[in-house]
Formats: sequence, C-alpha cells, structure tokens
Amino acid sequence: MASPIPSLAQLVSEASSLYKNMFADDTPQIAVCAPGRVNLIGEHTDYNNGYVLPMALPLVTVVVGSPSINGDTVVVTASEHADEPRRVDLSLPKEGSTSSPCWANYVRGVIHHYRARPVPGFRAVVVSSVPLGGGLSSSASLEVAFYTFLQQLRPDDGDKLAKALACQQAEHTHAGVPCGIMDQFVSALGTEGHALLIDCRSLEAIPVPLADPQVVILITNSNVKHSLASSEYTVRRRQCEDAAAILGKSSLRDATMKDLEGSRAKLDDVTYRRARHVIAEINRTVKAAEALKNGAYQEFGQLMVESHNSLRDLYEVSCKELDELVSAAMEVDGVFGSRMTGGGFGGCTVTLLKATVVDGTIQHVQERYHGSPTFFVTTPSAGARALQLS
Ligand code: GLA
Repeated sequence: MASPIPSLAQLVSEASSLYKNMFADDTPQIAVCAPGRVNLIGEHTDYNNGYVLPMALPLVTVVVGSPSINGDTVVVTASEHADEPRRVDLSLPKEGSTSSPCWANYVRGVIHHYRARPVPGFRAVVVSSVPLGGGLSSSASLEVAFYTFLQQLRPDDGDKLAKALACQQAEHTHAGVPCGIMDQFVSALGTEGHALLIDCRSLEAIPVPLADPQVVILITNSNVKHSLASSEYTVRRRQCEDAAAILGKSSLRDATMKDLEGSRAKLDDVTYRRARHVIAEINRTVKAAEALKNGAYQEFGQLMVESHNSLRDLYEVSCKELDELVSAAMEVDGVFGSRMTGGGFGGCTVTLLKATVVDGTIQHVQERYHGSPTFFVTTPSAGARALQLS
C-alpha cells in the first residue's frame, strides 16, 4: 500500500499544537508551506545550465509562527527521527561544528540571504511530510518554507525567482552543498497539475500539463542513503566543469555530441563518460517534455529508462537498491518507465504507470526489493504559499 500523505490542515494543526506547547499557550499568527519535489527527468543537468523536468509534491514543509515579543529568534522542529521536539535559539551564537548540515543551518542560511532587512525576531515551529534525506528535496522545501515565512513577517519584493536563488545560496553557504537551482526553483514556482520544464541557463520555465487521471506518478523510497552522496556530488560538478573547459565551452549545455566525440582523445575515460551523460540527458529532457505534452507516455517512459541507465553506467550515481527498484517496476505490464530521481546513491525512484496497475506494481516491487521500500502516489502540486490559519 502507498503511504498516506498528510493533508495541509493536519500538518498545520500539528505544528500549531506544538507551538502552543512550546511557547506557553501563545498561538501562531502565520502559516506557510513549501513542497518537496520529484524530478521526472533531467538529472545532474541543472548545474550544467541544462534542462530539468521536476514537479512539486503534495509532501510539504509547514512553518507556523509569530513575531517574537522580545526580539529573540527561536525555532522548534519535530521530526519523526527525534523523540522530542528540538528547540534552537538562533539569536544565540552557534555551538559546535559548522560542517554538519543540520536543519538549523538551513534556517540560518535563509535568514542570512533574505532579501529584505532587517529580519525581525520570530518564534516558529516546523513540521514536514517530506521524508528527510530521501532525495525529495526536504532541505529545499525547508529553505523555501522559511523564506516564505519571512516574507509574511517582513515582505520583500515578492520576486519568486530571486527567492529561489537566495535559498540556493543558503544551501551553498550554510550547508556546504553546491547544489543546482532545480529544487529551490520548483519548490518556489511549482504549478498545480503541471511539471516544469526549467531552462537552468535562462531560468525560464514552461509548465507541462500532467493531470491525466489515467496515469500516475509513483515514488518509491529505497529507504537507503549511502554516505557517498554529498562528496560525490561535488566531484561530479568538478568533472563536468573540467569537461566543459576541455571542450572550450562555458558549460556542457553549449556542447554537442559531435563536439564531445571530436575531443574524445583529450578527455580521460571518466570525464568523457560524465560529459556524455550530461549532453545526452539535456537532449532527452527536451524530448521527454514534448512527449509528455502529447500524452506519448510510452516514449516518455523509454526516455526515463535511458536516463536511469545513463546515470547508472556513465554518471555512476545509482546504487544497487535503486537499480533493483527500477528493474522490478519495469517488469510490470502497464509501467511506462522508471528511474532514480535526485542526486543518487540512495533515495527514491520515480515511476510513470497506468493508474489501473498501481496496486499490482507496489506489490510486485515490494516482493522483489531486498529492503523495505515505502511508496507515495503523487500529483503535481503548487509551489510555496501562505496558508490561512483558522
Ligand atoms: C540534487 C541537487 C539538484 C540537482 C540534483 C541532480 O537534488 O540539489 O540541484 O543537481 O541533485 O539532478
């Protein structure tokens, strides 16, 4: 069975009760949410100025809170992994190491990069239905949710692209992750019923309708996360920059397969394979968006599988758990395509399939997978927004 997705009302009510407990019966005045994302295709292309095709999820981070009475800034989070809510006073100097990308660093980063000053003190509670570290951008949704919260306290100019860029900066400077723009972009600008074809060079996005009741987007969480994920991400970025420099391009977006083959002798085998993935994946993403628009699901699914194979063999960011999930899903009649999604080395797969075969597919994957997967049946949702408090 797919896991239930808590409603916004449930999350807001959970966060509000926690707020009342933690802050002596005060009630929150502000509520906001920002979604996690799943990327349908276009992996490891964003930091190469290429195309990506993600959609915002109904899995969200919710922040409720109020301006603080004494100017302090206190944030509380309740996580499924902790026994007790964690309370951090951000007005106090930070204790301990700066290197661990714990949730409070993301909040600090967002405050640091917020585009209107001064940022007033506040009390806030965070709850989230985005699985932590599961490759569905729990961190981007936290950043964008906090930014949206600050917009209610001290409005900026409301520019959503600038907001996404500020949140990306927060991740770079305060979590030490040199991520691309995809996750923050779709969390801030996602559109209900649509995936977004984002051009990561011009930073423009075209919404691609995805609301056919006959097809379903199934997310399967492998529930594994290998420690290589963050160090290898940085290595891949550097390999792509090296490849672009050798090809005489400012990014791999500007390179063609012909350019790559023409310079093959100048590239070592690993750099060649990394570049080959990126150049082909950028092309695949444009084709896939067109196929989706035309309802050509078979073709879309085929491109998803090609993407997965390339991430496994050329880019080498998959792992045996993700490969197993993809192979198992592809054995079911009515599944159009399946692939790893996000940075890799664990996390989730995304599968496009006929609505009529969802239950059978979940059962089949559960039987085949050697670990304990969890499943979400999702639809493209809206980006970050303020919520009414009743
Ligand atoms: C992570 C990063 C994104 C993107 C993906 C890979 O999710 O945060 O910017 O690079 O990996 O496509």
